[in-house]
Formats: sequence, C-alpha cells, structure tokens
Amino acid sequence: MTENSTNPFEPRYAPGKTTVCVMGLGYIGLPTASVLATKGFQVHGVDVRPDVVDTINQGKIHIEEPDLDILVRSAVNSGQLKAGKTPQPADIFMICVPTPIRPDRSPDLSYVKQAGQALKPYIKPGNLVILESTSPPRTTEDIVLQEAIPANLTVGRDVFVAHCPERVLPGRILFEVVQNDRVVGGITPECTARAKQFYESFVKGEVLATNALAAEVTKLVENSYRDVNIAFANELSILADRLGIDAWEVIELANRHPRVNILTPGPGVGGHCISVDPWFLVHAAPDITPLMRTAREVNNSKPHYLVEHIERLARPFASPVIGCLGIAYKADVDDIRESPSLEIVQMLAERNVGQILVCDPFVPHSKFSELPLLPLGEVLERSQILVLLTDHRPFREIPRRFLQEKVVVDTRGAWR
Ligand SMILES: NC(=O)c1ccc[n+]([C@@H]2O[C@H](COP(=O)([O-])OP(=O)(O)OC[C@H]3O[C@@H](n4cnc5c(N)ncnc54)[C@H](O)[C@@H]3O)[C@@H](O)[C@H]2O)c1
Repeated sequence: MTENSTNPFEPRYAPGKTTVCVMGLGYIGLPTASVLATKGFQVHGVDVRPDVVDTINQGKIHIEEPDLDILVRSAVNSGQLKAGKTPQPADIFMICVPTPIRPDRSPDLSYVKQAGQALKPYIKPGNLVILESTSPPRTTEDIVLQEAIPANLTVGRDVFVAHCPERVLPGRILFEVVQNDRVVGGITPECTARAKQFYESFVKGEVLATNALAAEVTKLVENSYRDVNIAFANELSILADRLGIDAWEVIELANRHPRVNILTPGPGVGGHCISVDPWFLVHAAPDITPLMRTAREVNNSKPHYLVEHIERLARPFASPVIGCLGIAYKADVDDIRESPSLEIVQMLAERNVGQILVCDPFVPHSKFSELPLLPLGEVLERSQILVLLTDHRPFREIPRRFLQEKVVVDTRGAWR
C-alpha cells in the first residue's frame, strides 16, 4: 500500500492491498491474524515460540478454539497467512502479547516491551502500530511509543500509534472478533482515525473512537466491573452456606426484581483477564481503589473456602476418594490460566485430603501433568465425594442417578 494514494475516497487500509504483521499468536493474535487473512489481508504472524510458528505454518493450531483449525488451515493454504519468528515490513503492526501480573501483583509489561523493540527496525513512515494487549493506563504512550517508534518519526504525522483492546470470550472468539463493538484510541486524533478505519474494514460491530488512555481504562473497567459483581455473588454464596440456604435460589429470586441482576457464584475467578486486569487499576492508584482490591481478595479467597469445606466433608471417610470434575477456568474450554478449579485440585492434593481423581475432557495431558487425567466414568465410579469445579457440558449432563449416594459439592450450581 502506498501512503500517497491517488484516490482520496479509497480507504487507506483494505483487504487486498494492506499488509499486517501480528506479534503474538495466542488466543487473541492467532484468531485475529487468521480472520484478517481470510478477509484478504496479507498477514505475517510472529511468535517467539518456534513450535507455535511451525504448527501454524503446517496449517494447524496449538490452542483450543471452535472452528479456529478450519480458519487457520484455509488462511495458510491460501498463502494469506504465514508465521515466522521475526517481524517483517508491513503497513500495520498489531501487538497481541501477554500482559500478566507479577507475584507482587504489579503489571509485567516485559512482553510488550520486547515486542515493541523487535518491531522498531521495521517501522517506516505511514505505519500504524496497534496495541491489542490488555494494558495498564498509559502503556500505549509510555511503552509502545517509546520502544517501537524510531526517534526520527513523529507520531500522528509520520507514524500512527493506537490502542484497541480485545474483548472476546474464549469459545466464541471467531464470532466476537468480528461482531463485537470495538473501542479504539490513538495517541493523536489522526492515529485514532486511522485505527478506526482499519477496524471498520473487517469488524461488523461499531468501532467507537476515543484516545489511547481512555481505551486502556475502558477495557480494565469492563473486567473490574465484572470482578466486583462476581465477588458480591461469591460472598453471598459463603453467607448462604452459613445461613443454610441455597445461594442460587436466593439469587434467582432476587433477580426477579426489575433492577437487580446478581451474577453467578463459582469456585473463584479465573482466566487471565478478569482475575488480572483489576490489579492494573489498583496498581495505578492503590490509595483510592479499595473496592476493586477487596473484590479481588474475595474472589481469590473462594478456592480456600471451598478446600476447607471439602476437607470437612472428607473427615468422616477412612480413606476418602475425591473426584474433581474440571480444571479449566470456565466451561467447555481448555484454558487453565489462573483457574480456581485447578487451584482447588492442587490444594487438595498438597494437603493430602484424600485420593484425588481428576477429570477434564477439554484439557490435554500436555497442559497438566501433576496428576493423571482420568475418564469421567472412572471418576464417577470410584469417587465418594464428587466436586464439580468446571461446568463443562459432559459434567452438566451427568445423569443425576450417578450423583446419588455420593457427597456432592457443586461449586457452579449446575446440578441443582
Ligand atoms: N485470551 C483472552 O480471552 C483475552 C481476551 C481479551 C484480551 N486478552 C489480552 O490479549 C493479550 C494476549 O492474550 P492471549 O490470551 O492471546 O495470550 P497467549 O499467551 O495465548 O498468547 C500470546 C502469545 O504471544 C507470544 N509472545 C510472547 N512474547 C512475544 C514477543 N515478544 N513477540 C512475539 N510473540 C510473543 C507467546 O509465545 C504467545 O504465543 C493479553 O494482554 C490478554 O490480556 C486476552
């Protein structure tokens, strides 16, 4: 694509003429790269893991996501998507690398820094650099701009930098990456306008324009809102246990009030979004964010509460056999990052509460090797205590007669 297009009405970025380099080919980068490729953009995907690069170049995938295998195979076979270990010159660079927290709960921006530094030699006038990773306030300006943009180029005139946070739901990524509304915020209004035009060329949802800082905070606020509300539901479930009532029933009844919408309790909060992102806001202003901090602490404490509860239930058995159903952080996915279900299994094993039998038909053995992953039938047959940790469909559909004569702990309210 040339910067000096002759036709002023021609979109600046469009399939067939725009090249895109995507940094990080995980749950966000790979679906984004393959959607762009199948829409007609020429895409070069970059990952630091050679096994990921090789797998993708064979038209295969290394993560579990419905229909992604079909999309990647078609994108690679058509020659629109290629993967490599280093960047290549492109019109647009997208950064989709991890943004975890450190053990002290401060943001770890080392991946964004490394990706920015790797891009720098390839940045030329006219380029648009987009940070898609969920990021603490001011990361686009303080890290991406500083690390990726050569000093001789002026942002907003020569090159363009923006943030566009991803809001997809694992399990529905391919649908949501196209259908969701998107928030884009540039370092300058021209950066915003260019990023907006790019997203409008492949997104069916509305593309809402703001500045980079507001876009960063918007994404963090969305997940903090959910975390605070889940914390309310989790606290309520513990209170309900103390009072001897069914939390899910009370919530269902309360939600019949026209202005009440309580979320669902569970074993805690997992995944690397809701359980991580609020810390970015707390870290940015610790003295004025007690509610968000407390919500994090309430949700983090729920696995401990449940382990103690299971320990009490196991005490009457001479050699308790505890079947744990699910280690993924949510239903019908293979993602075990920050999973409270996994944490509960690990704590039960560490504390020698009994013999722990684990089943998760979605999680491959390569992702979890601490204990054998057993067939559902075996776990159902051998367990005296059955703990539903992740409400995967095969667990939801277990005929209730298999639950009779067992001590049941349903952390998801799925067997009510
Ligand atoms: N997974 C989700 O559902 C989700 C949803 C919304 C937002 N996000 C955000 O998107 C970002 C990416 O998350 P993800 O789930 O795709 O992570 P991921 O771990 O699945 O993938 C990231 C990939 O980046 C690669 N990588 C690391 N450093 C690199 C570098 N310097 N250059 C190139 N590649 C590099 C890793 O090897 C990995 O394959 C995070 O900020 C996350 O918070 C994720």
